[in-house]
Amino acid sequence: MTTAPRHAIDALFLEERTYPPSLEFATQANARPDIYERDWEELWEAEGRERVSWFKPFDKLYEWEPPYAKWYLGGKLNVCFNCVDRHVEAGNGENVAYHWEGEPEGETRTITFADLQRDVVRFANALKKLGVEKGTPVGIYMGMVPELPVAMLACARLGAPHTVVFGGFSADSLSGRLNDMECEILITQDEGWRRGSTVPLKKNADEALAASPGVKRAVVLRRTRSDVAIEDGRDVWWHEIVEGESDDPSSCPCEEMDSEDLLYLLYTSGTTAKPKGIVHTTAGYLVGVATTHHYIFDVKPDSVYWCAADIGWVTGHSYIVYGPLCNGTTGVLYEGTPDFPDKDRWWSIVERYGVDILYTAPTAIRAHMKWGPEHAEKHDLSSLRLLGSVGEPINPEAWMWYREHIGGGRTPVVDTWWQTETGMILITPLPGVTTLKPGSATKPFPGVLPAVLDEEGNDVGPGGGGYLVLKRPWPAMLRGIHNDHERYVETYWSRYEGLYFAGDGAKLDEDGDFWLLGRVDDVMNVSGHRISTIEVESALVDHQSVAEAAVCGRNDPQTGQAIVAYVTLKGGDEGDVEKLEELRNHVAKKIGPIAKPANIVFTPELPKTRSGKIMRRLLRDVAEKRELGDTTTLADPTVVEELQERASTERED
Ligand code: WT7
Repeated sequence: MTTAPRHAIDALFLEERTYPPSLEFATQANARPDIYERDWEELWEAEGRERVSWFKPFDKLYEWEPPYAKWYLGGKLNVCFNCVDRHVEAGNGENVAYHWEGEPEGETRTITFADLQRDVVRFANALKKLGVEKGTPVGIYMGMVPELPVAMLACARLGAPHTVVFGGFSADSLSGRLNDMECEILITQDEGWRRGSTVPLKKNADEALAASPGVKRAVVLRRTRSDVAIEDGRDVWWHEIVEGESDDPSSCPCEEMDSEDLLYLLYTSGTTAKPKGIVHTTAGYLVGVATTHHYIFDVKPDSVYWCAADIGWVTGHSYIVYGPLCNGTTGVLYEGTPDFPDKDRWWSIVERYGVDILYTAPTAIRAHMKWGPEHAEKHDLSSLRLLGSVGEPINPEAWMWYREHIGGGRTPVVDTWWQTETGMILITPLPGVTTLKPGSATKPFPGVLPAVLDEEGNDVGPGGGGYLVLKRPWPAMLRGIHNDHERYVETYWSRYEGLYFAGDGAKLDEDGDFWLLGRVDDVMNVSGHRISTIEVESALVDHQSVAEAAVCGRNDPQTGQAIVAYVTLKGGDEGDVEKLEELRNHVAKKIGPIAKPANIVFTPELPKTRSGKIMRRLLRDVAEKRELGDTTTLADPTVVEELQERASTERED
């Protein structure tokens, strides 16, 4: 076994394309170059004062007693007031808050800020009658219907913290979260729509509630109108309880909340361990998401902004609901999947609403790549001005495809790095200012101070790879894990004294730009070289016939670990031995022989979580022919069974 110099992670892949901002974009951009020069405290002070409305202004910017921060101390405000009422009071009630598009074709609703206010007030009044008041924990388990943001905002109005549980989660996941937060009420719906089929939300909720005795009431929205069980004394219909309730805002004033009052918990599913209830509070969170939304997405008063995530994830909380509504932005809300009834559904939505900003995940971009550009070509996408990506490292070729085929070769693409825990985007280009590089999240957002460290805690410097940390608090950062101080300290604050450990690998290039390398648990060790999965994957996706790739390490007596690649070819191609050799050589040419996969398994699908992240842990189990670990977070468990089949018949190199 040969040994290489000990880097935390070796930085191998070279991507050299750069895209400086066009003059046209730069002259109209919300962000100006001098934003990077601003003193970070002055920046958050100014954004705090100007971007949100206060019932009582804050008197201290922040307090930092690691590992806990407080922001905007002494301030009083209400998130719902900021997202809804103040826009109506300012005379903008007729602006559209959401263009909602149901999955069944032709089903649409236009919801203005005035409509939103009426809906929120009526529903909040109804919730009050069910006993919801300041501090009552509320669970929400719904699909992408307008009533989901209405429910969240009604909670915020009353000062009742919520936890939204993604509608794709099972009854068990739901009851675990309801119990952990000690929810007293659940808001759900009869069924949701997904790819032409229904999702039995109420049925799952019934099962969950049987295991969550603390939940005394359930509100059920009628969506598909199918027959669902209604338990007398516990369940009530949404449409019945709002009947006769006032929609006059003065009938249900916005509760005065302290800056540091709990706004919501959002559970992140650890891979095997119990999900963590990530704590987000009121003022810092709102300032953080609204500020980043304004500068990063370059949102204008006439923008039609579409974040195509699900509200059940943090992306939806921060960049479909709270950030955009706080900024008074018009958004698109789409209920269904991108391929229903056809693979051009998204592009038909972009065309019909004149979407100018689109924000999605690499997994979706790669799916569109796999389906081919012809679906986008059927539609006029010239309204698009800006594209965004989040959730995983984006392979340079996927970035290029996105810009080329969706952005018409003209739009900036902002690759935004953040986490459920960070609440807001932390590493990202600012369109119109930052020079873009395909595959790089580029620069810290102004005021944010990340670093890349080696095992000993030294800065790796330009060209080096290591562990991503944050050295300074930021307004929207988590305020802990619900009821679990120890785990909070251990997960994020014990690796390096006083620094937030993100759990991601990263490298810095000569310009100081950040390249995210994936979760540190996924790093492979080949003959002492610490190789990140994303670099090998990007080399594979760089090959013209590859749509998507995932790699992992498996034990190897000679090299410590050997690289195994799982590859989906474009156009449903099955792959053969020649293709396998061609791809191995392509990787050797792009990065070096050290990164050449020992084996490649061709597969039509990769195992992913419900939020679209590739589950490399399971790929390792397949590669080592082990029994599979926990598969409950998989979107489609059959994918990995099929892979096991294929891997066992595949030749070994
Ligand atoms: C993890 C956080 C934050 C919204 C959605 C995911 C990965 C996220 C990027 C990016 C490379 C990224 C990281 C991070 N990630 N964005 N632009 N480039 N990796 O939230 O489920 O809490 O996941 O997603 O690994 O730690 P999440």
